[in-house]
Amino acid sequence: MKHLIDPMDLSVKEIDDILNLALDIIDNKEKYSNVCKGKKLATLFFEPSTRTRLSFEAAMMELGGNVLGFSSAASSSSSKGESVGDTVKIVSCYADIIAMRHFKEGAPMLASMKSDVPIINAGDGGHNHPTQTLTDLLTIKREKGRLSNLTIGLCGDLMFGRTVHSLIKALSRYEGIEFILISPDELKIPDYIRTEVIEKNNITYREVTSMEDVIGELDILYMTRVQRERFFNEADYIRLKDSYILDNSKLVTAKSDLSILHPLPRVNEIAVEVDDDPRACYFKQALNGKFVRMALIMTLLGLEA
Ligand code: NCD
Repeated sequence: MKHLIDPMDLSVKEIDDILNLALDIIDNKEKYSNVCKGKKLATLFFEPSTRTRLSFEAAMMELGGNVLGFSSAASSSSSKGESVGDTVKIVSCYADIIAMRHFKEGAPMLASMKSDVPIINAGDGGHNHPTQTLTDLLTIKREKGRLSNLTIGLCGDLMFGRTVHSLIKALSRYEGIEFILISPDELKIPDYIRTEVIEKNNITYREVTSMEDVIGELDILYMTRVQRERFFNEADYIRLKDSYILDNSKLVTAKSDLSILHPLPRVNEIAVEVDDDPRACYFKQALNGKFVRMALIMTLLGLEA
């Protein structure tokens, strides 16, 4: 039985197979409409979500399966003091596969040790978000036709942004990747990502504070929200929240084939006027998330069309 807790749980070949399956699903939706007949996905969300939970549920429905679950810790027995381990032990009696989001780093990993069915980490604290990474990789592949030889700017809250950590890990295995890490000094990537992932893989990278200085070099600009819920005090959040606001004037020096990604939700970091720019890919990205989750569910359940 395979779980997906960390993006590195998947080999490059397994990622390739999932992305190719997602592409086939996009082209041949009918072929997959009954693949999960009789199967159930449980979504256990201890933290808020719109895209991740609903795209998982839509994915299972489009595969002909069913869904059950809860969307907040308050509506589950964790509010009565039940442990994650017990919750998962119980839910694995009711469902064939579980997607779990939790505010505590490592909770889905612990769940995977107790579960009788595959566990998918749908975001654990400021740590990892591997299914967003699959979404991001599918988007890059569709927009650029490749996952190698790319200069990628990651901008915003690189300290607490779990999507950034997982994307850096996954991309570190491809050739010709260069990272430009754009953040305020207080929100730089954690040391373990810099030393254990970027430097260990001899990846070219730079840490900068100005988006305008580097935007012209980028093939991908990955914007992120400042993660308010992970801050220890509100004053720091208020001071840092509007560090970067991408608008049309800042795009003047950008490449004509730049792809702008954002895992969403956005707060202020991308002006609404940018939505009409053909380089804006974040809404397409959210749709890709459903297809890649369909491919992932099939893969972890060992199902074929
Ligand atoms: C991200 C998350 O939850 O980490 N959202 C998502 O899953 N699409 C990003 C965020 O909340 O800022």
